[in-house]
Amino acid sequence: MKARTRVAVVTGGNRGIGFEICRQLAAKGLRVVLTARTLGKARAAAVRLKHLGLAVDTAALDVTDDASVKRLARFLLRNHGGVDVLVNNAGIYLEGGYGDGRDPLSVFHEPLAFVRRTMDTNLHGPYRLCQALVPSMVARGYGRVVNVSSGSGQLADMDGREAGYRMSKTALNALTRIWAKELAGTGVKVNALCPGWVRTDMGGPGAPRTVAQGADTAIWLATLPARGPNGGFFRDRKPIPW
Ligand SMILES: NC(=O)c1ccc[n+]([C@@H]2O[C@H](COP(=O)([O-])OP(=O)(O)OC[C@H]3O[C@@H](n4cnc5c(N)ncnc54)[C@H](OP(=O)(O)O)[C@@H]3O)[C@@H](O)[C@H]2O)c1
Repeated sequence: MKARTRVAVVTGGNRGIGFEICRQLAAKGLRVVLTARTLGKARAAAVRLKHLGLAVDTAALDVTDDASVKRLARFLLRNHGGVDVLVNNAGIYLEGGYGDGRDPLSVFHEPLAFVRRTMDTNLHGPYRLCQALVPSMVARGYGRVVNVSSGSGQLADMDGREAGYRMSKTALNALTRIWAKELAGTGVKVNALCPGWVRTDMGGPGAPRTVAQGADTAIWLATLPARGPNGGFFRDRKPIPW
């Protein structure tokens, strides 16, 4: 009997690492739902993939908006009967310049509002999506949740500055463990990864890695076999310290 085509949802799929994850998953034959903050952005990205010979579905998703997440869950149930793979890729990094000479990265200066906004996207976004989508995975007895985290969140190697971004990724790692523990034995696996320093709008032009290199571990985790790890943190497909 032919295996059912897996359905994969990617957040922030319109550019950067998320777009590349969509490209690679579609190239592997998964049915990809490329999401972006607006349907227009998602469709424009889908056209770019179409030029590469790849077809993807599109949907609007703002990960900070409860109603938007619920709409996506309904869309997936209606059109696909649920979802098999969730890649929590969407992320923000707000520690830019304030234009007044202050060190923009210092915890002495970073406004609490930046920390709150960063948490709402990088941590609460995946929280909302897991609550909305994981139940349908459990019902199917199969699921792969991939949290795109960062070495910036590693407690083992915690440095100063960029407090909002760092804390959001440390907490995302904790959330990865919590989901993984509660899902043990269900067929649903939850793992986190660091893509390395990647040339995107966030990573900047000086970053050493291509998006293809940055996406590789996410693709591996999204398509893990039944024996694969659950509740781990990886870079280049290898475990790294929390
Ligand atoms: N690049 C690196 O060196 C690096 C290193 C470590 C970890 N990471 C992580 O990798 C992930 C992707 O990073 P990237 O470098 O590809 O970043 P990017 O080029 O800045 O792209 C970020 C993506 O997230 C989307 N996004 C932001 N807020 C959103 C929201 N509220 N709802 C839905 N989508 C939202 C953006 O959509 P818009 O186009 O609408 O803004 C965009 O599609 C992030 O989680 C990041 O923290 C990146």
